[in-house]
Amino acid sequence: SVRKDSPLYALLEVADGYYRQQLRHHAQRERAVDYLKGRGLSGQIAKRFGIGFAPPGWDNLMTHLVREKHEVKQLIDAGLVIENEDNGRRYDRLRDRITFPIRDSRGRVVGFGGRVLGDDKPKYLNSPETPVFHKGRELYGLFEARQANRQLDQILVVEGYMDVIALAQQGITHAVATLGTATTEEHLKRLFRVVSLVVFCFDGDNAGRKAAWRALENALPVMTDGRQVRFMFLPDGEDPDSLVRSEGADAFRARLEQQALPLSDYLLRHLGEEVNSDSLEGKAHLASLALPLIEQIPGKLLKRLLRQELERRTGMDLDSLPPPPAPRADDE
Ligand code: CTP
Ligand code: MN
Ligand code: MN
Ligand code: MN
Ligand code: MN
Repeated sequence: SVRKDSPLYALLEVADGYYRQQLRHHAQRERAVDYLKGRGLSGQIAKRFGIGFAPPGWDNLMTHLVREKHEVKQLIDAGLVIENEDNGRRYDRLRDRITFPIRDSRGRVVGFGGRVLGDDKPKYLNSPETPVFHKGRELYGLFEARQANRQLDQILVVEGYMDVIALAQQGITHAVATLGTATTEEHLKRLFRVVSLVVFCFDGDNAGRKAAWRALENALPVMTDGRQVRFMFLPDGEDPDSLVRSEGADAFRARLEQQALPLSDYLLRHLGEEVNSDSLEGKAHLASLALPLIEQIPGKLLKRLLRQELERRTGMDLDSLPPPPAPRADDE
């Protein structure tokens, strides 16, 4: 664990100031500003999220921070500078990219994301794990969402920085993003400390659908009664950014209200799509997939209702089942 006063926080704050300053004053700032405008963002929203610009060149940030008496070793520890292990060369991690500061729940900058201005690969780079930044814990935009809302009753979980920011630009200010990683149980615990309803809204593509099922699996162990998780699936090829820009905030909100599937519906629907349960064998297969998932739910009421629904679909009295055999060591 990290001491509250880790020197990395102060360093990251200076880096944040540097990137924001470059977006305002760098000779090539216009390329960055044009890019952001092209994505429909106002100066006001860019400011609210602290968007900045890492200029082209190998060591702009490093030179600036060293001039301000920071040690290169710390820049490396903070994930700002990369050291090549073979030749010892050091260079800025983010170069010629739009920067997004990642804040922890107290608003301290703990890392950055960076997006290329064009179509180069990789499109996004993020800070690595550092003593102050843990991807499986932080949620991009949670601090900003809490700042923008006196009282939050639900949180929308999306995939990317631009999804969070584009939604906020349209007035939908309760979105957060997992940062290119799967939604972890820790993320969910964190969210449920703030709200009792979490809605996942991932991209309408295979990666997004996979991420949704992973999120369901990680949500099951924290589903106490009273908590709710829903899943909103987007049309193929859309993500929250593209959709809210094309159809507007009201249509997006209407989708959220009308189309978000409760976790229980998604679970049964997904398994129902995988298994043809017309035959007795199919029903047995369905039960064998569903039961281990349902059993993970700590909420007694939701668990009971799901078991009842599974009984209805399989025509089987689940309570009369013998307990499952203990897993053998050579089982997968
Ligand atoms: N991501 C990442 N590394 C990548 C690609 C994606 O960390 N190489 C993370 C980023 O946080 C990104 C999110 O996953 O914001 C969503 O990825 P993706 O859907 O591929 O981004 P796009 O929507 O294609 O990005 P953009 O709209 O900016 O073109
Ligand atoms: Mn995607
Ligand atoms: Mn996307
Ligand atoms: Mn996108
Ligand atoms: Mn599956």
